[in-house]
Amino acid sequence: MTKAWTKSDWRAKPRVQMPDYPDQGALKAVEAQLAAYPPLVFAGEARKLKATLAEVGAGRAFLLQGGDCAESFAEFSADNIRDTFKVMLQMAIVLTWGAKLPVVKVGRMAGQFAKPRSAPTEMAGGQELPSYRGDIINGFDFTPEARIPDPARMLQAYTQAAASLNLLRAFSTGGYADIHRVQSWIAGFTDEEEAQRYRAVAERISDAMDFMAAAGVTSETAHELGKVDFYTSHEALLLEYEEALCRIDSTTGLPVAGSGHMIWIGDRTRQPDGAHVEFCRGVQNPIGLKCGPSTTTEDLKVLMAKLNPANEAGRLTLIARFGAGKVADHLPRLIQTVQSEGANVVWSCDPMHGNTIKAASGYKTRPFESVLREVREFFGIHKAEGTIPGGVHFEMTGKDVTECTGGVRAVTDEDLSSRYHTSCDPRLNASQALELAFLVAEELNDRRALRRAAGF
Ligand code: PEP
Ligand code: CO
Repeated sequence: MTKAWTKSDWRAKPRVQMPDYPDQGALKAVEAQLAAYPPLVFAGEARKLKATLAEVGAGRAFLLQGGDCAESFAEFSADNIRDTFKVMLQMAIVLTWGAKLPVVKVGRMAGQFAKPRSAPTEMAGGQELPSYRGDIINGFDFTPEARIPDPARMLQAYTQAAASLNLLRAFSTGGYADIHRVQSWIAGFTDEEEAQRYRAVAERISDAMDFMAAAGVTSETAHELGKVDFYTSHEALLLEYEEALCRIDSTTGLPVAGSGHMIWIGDRTRQPDGAHVEFCRGVQNPIGLKCGPSTTTEDLKVLMAKLNPANEAGRLTLIARFGAGKVADHLPRLIQTVQSEGANVVWSCDPMHGNTIKAASGYKTRPFESVLREVREFFGIHKAEGTIPGGVHFEMTGKDVTECTGGVRAVTDEDLSSRYHTSCDPRLNASQALELAFLVAEELNDRRALRRAAGF
């Protein structure tokens, strides 16, 4: 008989992108403290998300996942949480209209603190220092002291995640997420001069709500309209933190990650025999797996077998991130692998990570047009393969930042320096994120029209 999985088995596997803590005693003390704390999410919620993602996989719901590239301690505020939540709700309504399907809302929030980096060190002003790896590991300031991995940061991340979740739960059910409020925000966006091309869609959404209200369906009579289900997710990169928050689900007796509802494995840490896959395979949460240009079909087969041996629907979301113009080189072969294995997966599109460029001004940016182009290529290939494009995954914020170029309120290369606040990758701002939702909705709506015309 094979030995049962334990939450510390990853320690015997090769690890990449994780810090070497100089003070092992301090690390052990933090791990013990976190292990004694309550989990941030409960197993039943993760099970519910898995069941909902199974609906996405079957084409009966659509997934919207989004939030910061990296949450930071400095940017932690009620306003930031509220604004990201608010723009996700607006996007969700627009996508619901386009897809005519329920939209599953998953934030990159309340735990998205650890970052993989392309190089172990950074150079600035002739000085070389260890790379910044996210606020849960070391500090952003370019000083030798800040860059030392400090385990106490895990406690601060836990506290921030707990407070963030508390607020998200309050917003979700306390009246803030009422569909009528959200619809009025969307109408406000399309009232603006630059966004008028989206007005027709906003008016159709508004008409549908007026019709429902006239028929007696309001948030007073249908309580579902006054609240939402909102889930959290992050990259499970810092395994000491993940292990310390791993718990046994008292209903099933099985291990579950208590750090967030969904966790994912990044493009740099998906080695089939590595530590990250080893940890994630043993917890019952929905798992995301980033698939980039270097994902081989052989690796994908092995990873699907390891991460979802029972082929459970909703367990595994494959998040494609190839870059505009490269989707056709990779996605068809991966889709065909999934099909030939008969594997149940959700396909989602991350059009951010393959489209990062350096602007002439030196800022890392992502052109809105490339982001949109990758989404369209993703939809087009799923259509050609007869498979289901289940969702989208964005790096975005509810604030009016200038990090990605383009969009109706055109951000130019020269604008980037004005409000560039990300502590890692460039994010869509609120207007760009909502605009993208309108464009994806049009895409989904066209597909529905095509399906109807084809008689199915
Ligand atoms: C991310 O999602 O922030 C990230 C680092 O993505 P990837 O692993 O796909 O590069
Ligand atoms: Co990122």
